[in-house]
Amino acid sequence: MTQPLLFQPLTLRGLTLSNRVAVAPMCQYSAREGIAQDWHLQHYGAMAASGPGMIVLEATGVAPEGRISPLCLGLYDDATEAGLARLIPALKGFGTSAIGIQLGHAGRKGGSAPPWTGGGPAKDGWPTVSASDVPFDDGWPAPEALDAAGLARIKAAFVAAAQRALRIGFDLIELHSAHGYLLHQFLSPLSNRRTDSYGGSLDNRMRFPLEVIEAVRAVWPADKPLGLRISATDWIDGGWSIEDSVAYAKEFRQLGIDFVCVSSGGVVAKAPIPISPGYQIHLAGRIRREAGIPTRTVGLIANAAQAEAALAEGSADLVAIGRGFLDNPRWVWHAAQALGAEMAYPPQYMAALGKYWPGAALARPQAAE
Ligand SMILES: Cc1cc2nc3c(=O)[nH]c(=O)nc-3n(C[C@H](O)[C@H](O)[C@H](O)COP(=O)(O)O)c2cc1C
Repeated sequence: MTQPLLFQPLTLRGLTLSNRVAVAPMCQYSAREGIAQDWHLQHYGAMAASGPGMIVLEATGVAPEGRISPLCLGLYDDATEAGLARLIPALKGFGTSAIGIQLGHAGRKGGSAPPWTGGGPAKDGWPTVSASDVPFDDGWPAPEALDAAGLARIKAAFVAAAQRALRIGFDLIELHSAHGYLLHQFLSPLSNRRTDSYGGSLDNRMRFPLEVIEAVRAVWPADKPLGLRISATDWIDGGWSIEDSVAYAKEFRQLGIDFVCVSSGGVVAKAPIPISPGYQIHLAGRIRREAGIPTRTVGLIANAAQAEAALAEGSADLVAIGRGFLDNPRWVWHAAQALGAEMAYPPQYMAALGKYWPGAALARPQAAE
């Protein structure tokens, strides 16, 4: 039987994904002092038991002050490494999903409060750093512009976190260069006002993110994929644009990035983002065609038919689903059923699929619709 595109394997270096569905990285705001907790085990465990090709753990700070919030994961010392190391054998034991980690530095958006407490700078936040001393928005503190020593320190922190991720046994790393966090703060002229070799021209603004990518690639094994997440556009005239993203993708492809997840926005608080179903798919398509790099599309892709169409039209090689998986950790099973695909299920749950107990089809959620 020929599988639908969404359920065909994908090989990235030495890693073969069993299907093209990815769980998008999503902050859980549930760590303590950067350390993963039981919440993470149950949350990612439920995803792993469902069998998406790839699960990317949430944005994880490469330094304490690089975390998005005081409740975000970190990977910067032995305690944070041990916390994540506890998860991996369990997640691997639950299914076949490749497990990745999103490494990032929040820059001027660090130390923020969880969205359910209203967002904004947290009371227990910290002084932040960025490309320039431009605050994220009204009510946010001015970050300190990084000097040469600061840049070197952060690049070294990315490298050290990658080495810890390797020891832990992650299958892939995704570097966070999107959503207005530090690497994006260097890329966008809205946040980067530097006058040295890291600001001004496009080449200069790309310099620090490309240096970080190159340094991480140098310590991440040649048989393991390294991905990158970008915001393809700031959605603002004078900001980072899709043309800039194509140029950036051509550069980071040369440095050994294996796939790019194409998101958008986040560098400024108020941008007119045209949110609608699949509104970022065309951005992934353009980067895939013009830069010749595998893409993962994401954003308001609610159902299997939309995901399959994004692959069929040549916009993407992978589809990431975020909130759909929060609502239904078995999203991928239902996508397989909708597309008539075969996929492996944990034997413990096969009774839910009408495999061997009478009446199972009537017990499934669709029966209630
Ligand atoms: C609760 C929550 C947390 C998120 N955290 C992250 C994150 O850690 N890193 C990241 O790159 N994007 C993050 N995102 C964005 C998602 O990865 C995804 O791009 C976005 O939700 C759009 O996809 P969706 O419409 O399928 O949810 C988060 C989104 C949500 C809803």
